[in-house]
Amino acid sequence: MSAGKERLELTASVEEGPYYKAGSPERRSIASPGTPGRKLVLEGRVLDTEGNPVARAWLDFWHADGNGQYDNEGYNLRGHQYTDENGYYHLETVRPKEYLFRAAHVHAKVRASESSPVLTTQLFFPGEARNVTDPIFEEKTLMNVAEMQDSQKATFDFVVET
Ligand SMILES: [Fe+2]
Repeated sequence: MSAGKERLELTASVEEGPYYKAGSPERRSIASPGTPGRKLVLEGRVLDTEGNPVARAWLDFWHADGNGQYDNEGYNLRGHQYTDENGYYHLETVRPKEYLFRAAHVHAKVRASESSPVLTTQLFFPGEARNVTDPIFEEKTLMNVAEMQDSQKATFDFVVET
């Protein structure tokens, strides 16, 4: 290991929950027109534990809409994509709302390659009242969220096994 290069901690896994559906379409923009919720852009990289970006990593996202509802009939707010050659992903969607006892969150599955283990986790928004009371909440998977004029811009880097 080269000097100054610390091994990165793997992204914490968080339970899958009841609403995952395999077979999501490949796309970076996952909200159909008219979906309730403020615009949310989420982006970042997929890294290995050495901090190297992982190209062509698979990411599958799913989450509730701005009313706290999942689409369990179709694939609205569901989609998978692959990182670019520099390990970046980019998701355009709407901001999910909390539901039942759950704090607002974005579900994700991430895999460095077809022979790698799948990370299943949930990403959370800082400063949400429900973060304190949701037993599934994980502070290690808080996103960085910036307020933009007409949207929220969130960033998160995943660290996965290769
Ligand atoms: Fe959920």
